Amino acid sequence: MRAVACDRYGPPDILRLEDVERPVPKEDEVLVRVHATTVTRTDCGFRRGDPFIGRIVTGLLRPKWKILGTELAGEVEAVGTTVTEFEVGDQVFGINPWKFGTHAEFVCIRERGPLAHKPVDMSFEEAAAVCDGAILALMGLRPAELRKGKRILVHGASGSIGTATVQLAKYFDADVTAVCNTKNVETVRSLRADEVVDYTQEDFTKNGQTYDLIFDAVGKHSFRRCKGSLKRGGIYLATDHLRNVILALWTARIGDKRVVFPIPPRYTKKDVLFLKRLIETRRYLAVIDRCYPLEDVVDATRYVETEQKTGNVVMTVDGGRAR
Ligand SMILES: NC(=O)c1ccc[n+]([C@@H]2O[C@H](COP(=O)([O-])OP(=O)(O)OC[C@H]3O[C@@H](n4cnc5c(N)ncnc54)[C@H](OP(=O)(O)O)[C@@H]3O)[C@@H](O)[C@H]2O)c1
Repeated sequence: MRAVACDRYGPPDILRLEDVERPVPKEDEVLVRVHATTVTRTDCGFRRGDPFIGRIVTGLLRPKWKILGTELAGEVEAVGTTVTEFEVGDQVFGINPWKFGTHAEFVCIRERGPLAHKPVDMSFEEAAAVCDGAILALMGLRPAELRKGKRILVHGASGSIGTATVQLAKYFDADVTAVCNTKNVETVRSLRADEVVDYTQEDFTKNGQTYDLIFDAVGKHSFRRCKGSLKRGGIYLATDHLRNVILALWTARIGDKRVVFPIPPRYTKKDVLFLKRLIETRRYLAVIDRCYPLEDVVDATRYVETEQKTGNVVMTVDGGRAR
């Protein structure tokens, strides 16, 4: 099968398409023919081997995982002997965290892992972009116990995690202020944000408004700068930077405002099924910025590394499929 090989750490152009052996499903796995996948910030971090300390997990000298890619949508090609939930030909979507391998024509994934039947009215391209941003957003939102009357500000509301957070916070009935650049204001408004702050025009930390939760969905702000905009008991939710691990431990004991950094990420079938229900009742959609064929993985990766994508970047495998 064709797959994108990543056998050393380095810039995007180390990635190349190769012929490799097709994986064989274990007894509790399904083999999926991938029609669409994505390039995420996680793929980029693992390819760069950055931050360096992370190489303790990802491989000291070269990456442990030779094929990147976590999100997928496709069709079941074969099933292991104990698999009961899926059959050959089923259309599925999900995520293969910590195992990667979806930048390829085929990937094996555990039946009990974060995999579900694809919503019928959704293309493979749309389905491939659902899980990463949304599950990271859910993990962040859970400790805040959002409900009607709670105020949340999402900084970086136009990214993959950000676009998911805005929609999920509205689903939980919170009052949502979204912060983004001028070019993304209309997209973010279309996700039902109550207020949109264009950060090129206004600094939300100086307008006197306060929030129960500030979600730094793109890792470009800091607890120190946001503290004055948090209510008493408020939470600053981090997605990046090791300093936030220390701050999370410190603020759990001291002070009336907390840093929460939900790591390591946990991706579950329960969450994939929850998202599927939201999609089927038209309360969630994955925002897609660009779509590339697998052959253009280097261009797709370079674009993701500009840190300017709006939502998600998809790659189609063998031309994808309409539904
Ligand atoms: N904790 C975890 O397990 C985990 C997993 C994956 C990713 N992450 C981290 O989560 C963060 C978000 O990932 P993502 O995939 O959602 O990001 P993303 O999609 O790449 O974010 C892109 C968006 O970031 C915004 N942006 C760029 N620079 C900005 C700035 N200086 N101020 C405000 N917004 C800015 C851009 O919007 P505008 O043009 O509107 O500014 C762009 O739409 C990253 O830092 C990533 O490393 C964490």
